[in-house]
Amino acid sequence: MDVAGLAAGNPVWVGSSELTMTLGGLRACIDAGAGAVVAKSVNESAAARRQLDIADYAFVSPDGHVRTGPAQRHDGLLNRSGLAQVELDDWLGTLAAASTHGAPAGCPVVGSITLGEPDAAARIGRAMSAVVPAVELNLGAPHGREVRAVRQLTEVDGVRAAVRTVRAAVEVPLFVKLPGQASDVVALARAARSAGADAVGLVGRYPGFLPDPAGGAALGSWGAWGSPGCLPMSLYWVGKTRQALDVPVIGTNGARTTADVLRFLASGARAVEVVTALWIGGPAVLRELVNGVGAALAGRDFDEFVGSAVAAVREYGDVPPPPSPAWLPHTARWLSSGR
Ligand SMILES: Cc1cc2nc3c(=O)[nH]c(=O)nc-3n(C[C@H](O)[C@H](O)[C@H](O)COP(=O)(O)O)c2cc1C
Repeated sequence: MDVAGLAAGNPVWVGSSELTMTLGGLRACIDAGAGAVVAKSVNESAAARRQLDIADYAFVSPDGHVRTGPAQRHDGLLNRSGLAQVELDDWLGTLAAASTHGAPAGCPVVGSITLGEPDAAARIGRAMSAVVPAVELNLGAPHGREVRAVRQLTEVDGVRAAVRTVRAAVEVPLFVKLPGQASDVVALARAARSAGADAVGLVGRYPGFLPDPAGGAALGSWGAWGSPGCLPMSLYWVGKTRQALDVPVIGTNGARTTADVLRFLASGARAVEVVTALWIGGPAVLRELVNGVGAALAGRDFDEFVGSAVAAVREYGDVPPPPSPAWLPHTARWLSSGR
């Protein structure tokens, strides 16, 4: 399969995070069978790198409690984190070594930049073009309000301007990762595409806050939030973008199981970037997803499967009313219990 001309081993990709911040981490993801691996983001800012010093991670059980024991697959994650603490020349060496390791396995390594200033992102993107076959530009950093050195762009003009600047410098396919926290993500995807993005990544995680009813708050600060509950919200924008635009989509945010990856694909994503499930379960979970998706799609036409759920979706105006209103049994139960 491929995304915008980038050939990948399969549609289960490892997203950018601390898991892909070292050569060891990148190699482990490749060895566990990832279709592609997106390296940890860098940018030009020392302040963005310093944020990693105060990184912290709170796993939250499905019923809303911060875990004290080991995290479970369906936990949410509230965290602070920063960018890779490495000089660009050293980082280019790491990316080159990881690419060499991934090549025989058919697993490309994608460089990643979280936007600080567009001109600096363009310089970094040009340098990365020499060592990786694609670059992802993250415009959706959920820490953007807390840390000025990383940006979350939620307006079309800002997205268009940033992508145009970086596109002019990057000589390989450019993927643009967009925030889910915007009034119209399809409009952001359209702006990114018109400014030269070869694919869009949908959608970034959300800012989050989790007070403890007994006092204080998880992490003691604001954070970035992702959970299985975010999945339908991510799939909404993937599906809507599939319906509105001719642009390859890379899904992310909320995939924990094989079924979730397939849901992303059926909504229109050609690949899915997974992080939290792998953070919790390690390489065994990556292998499980790769094998599970491979088995589910065996004998099927990949291009036909991608977006198949959107092809079947009905607009509200096309849904016929049922013979009796669907709300009736629910309200009837309430009324009878109140008697
Ligand atoms: C600890 C952590 C660090 C992350 N760092 C980055 C980053 O540097 N750049 C980026 O584009 N996305 C980053 N992300 C976002 C992930 O790439 C991914 O899009 C997100 O976690 C949603 O996927 P998931 O639900 O599988 O975790 C990070 C996520 C986590 C949890």
